[in-house]
Amino acid sequence: MKTARKYKICVVGAGHVGLVAAACFSKLGHKVVCVDNNRSKIQMLKGMSMPFHEPGLESLVKSAVKRRNLEFLFSLTEGIRSSEVIFIAVGTPPKKDGSADLSSVENVAHAAAKNLNSYKLVVSKSTVPVQTGKRIQEIIKNNKKNGLKFDVASNPEFLREGRAIYDFFYPDRIVLGVESKRAENILRGIYSSVKAPFVVTDINTAELIKHASNSFLATKISFINAVSRVCDLAGADIEKVSKAMGMDRRIGSKFLQAGIGYGGFCFPKDIEAFAYISEELGYKFGLLREVRNINQGQVIYFLRKIKKKLGSLKNKKLAVLGLSFKPGTDDMRFAPAVKIVEALSKEGARLSLYDPKSMDKSKRVLKRIKKIKFFKSPYVAASGAECLCFLTEWDEFRRLDLKRLRKIMDYPLIADGRNMLDKKKVLMAGFEYFGIGR
Ligand code: UGA
Repeated sequence: MKTARKYKICVVGAGHVGLVAAACFSKLGHKVVCVDNNRSKIQMLKGMSMPFHEPGLESLVKSAVKRRNLEFLFSLTEGIRSSEVIFIAVGTPPKKDGSADLSSVENVAHAAAKNLNSYKLVVSKSTVPVQTGKRIQEIIKNNKKNGLKFDVASNPEFLREGRAIYDFFYPDRIVLGVESKRAENILRGIYSSVKAPFVVTDINTAELIKHASNSFLATKISFINAVSRVCDLAGADIEKVSKAMGMDRRIGSKFLQAGIGYGGFCFPKDIEAFAYISEELGYKFGLLREVRNINQGQVIYFLRKIKKKLGSLKNKKLAVLGLSFKPGTDDMRFAPAVKIVEALSKEGARLSLYDPKSMDKSKRVLKRIKKIKFFKSPYVAASGAECLCFLTEWDEFRRLDLKRLRKIMDYPLIADGRNMLDKKKVLMAGFEYFGIGR
């Protein structure tokens, strides 16, 4: 995968989007500097240790650094001055009112204005509300000290954590929001060896495509979760409903998995931010509010189901398998498991926790929660428990020895928050079982 012309690229932000993009751009042959204002993160990366778990990332970073195509820097000034294209991949965390905090994006725009020592293309890769590109343009225009030209563009990223490298090289589409032919040509050039259709739009449209895509995926999840509630009430099977619905190509089978709801740093914040900006612009996006409400309701519903089976949870031992917001990542941000663990602990339960990848992060995130213990094996965690809760659908959980679990548990209850187990097999192994909508 080599691109004809090599560009000097500065990626600002070494988070999931930024670090993956930096590593992948260098794999395409470009000269990349990746800048972050977190000194310890840059130190870690210089020492070749990754700040988060992402399959394939470490080897990509190592080989890019070895080929001198990738460098990590603390100085934003240096990064900008040495590059032609600046990708903004900094965080846009939620503010209390749900709107996106754009202060980091704006800081980069100010730095670009101050360090405009040649033509530069400033591209937003961070997920930002529509019209942020305009704001970046204004900041640079009003603060630059010379007559040098610049362009602003939007190139939203659609990669999923845990599949990020694959998604970068094999995307369904590459969205380019541009306002000049020069900017379009540079971006087309950067991605020229990635085989994917380009969708070229104005900047506002590109920004909106990203918010609309994440919101639509979350809507699919909340829709199927709402249907799962009706399934439980009616005695129908959500797994079959979802499968048959998904076979209709107009609907599609993806993102129709019912469970305890979506988490992660993208969907929850993007739905809030999209609803917020829509309302700011004059449209009350009630559907998105409901998508969020349904999602939050799934965790409460799951807890209610456990209590219905076990009665009071005071001093009962429950085992929790899976803590990250989805499999393939150690990311705990907005993970439904965090809310569930907190709530179970408040009810007085004693909890034994296990996750294949996020034990270190979980220990930090859950450090204030009472009566929890972490175990290195799902079997040790399950030993003596009265309920085994599955909160993340890691593949290794599907291979657990049910008979062995049945023997070591004090009460045979499985609470399957991801509908990930074969219900028949679980029942045959002597367990009581409930999932969501089945
Ligand atoms: C999501 C989008 O899928 C990416 O396209 C996007 O680039 C990214 O957000 C972002 O904006 O940065 P990600 O947060 O990595 O990616 O996770 P997903 O794989 O989309 O899963 C999100 C949540 O939905 C997880 O908690 C998952 O368990 C849940 N989910 C997913 C369901 O509950 N049911 C499903 O059927 C699918």
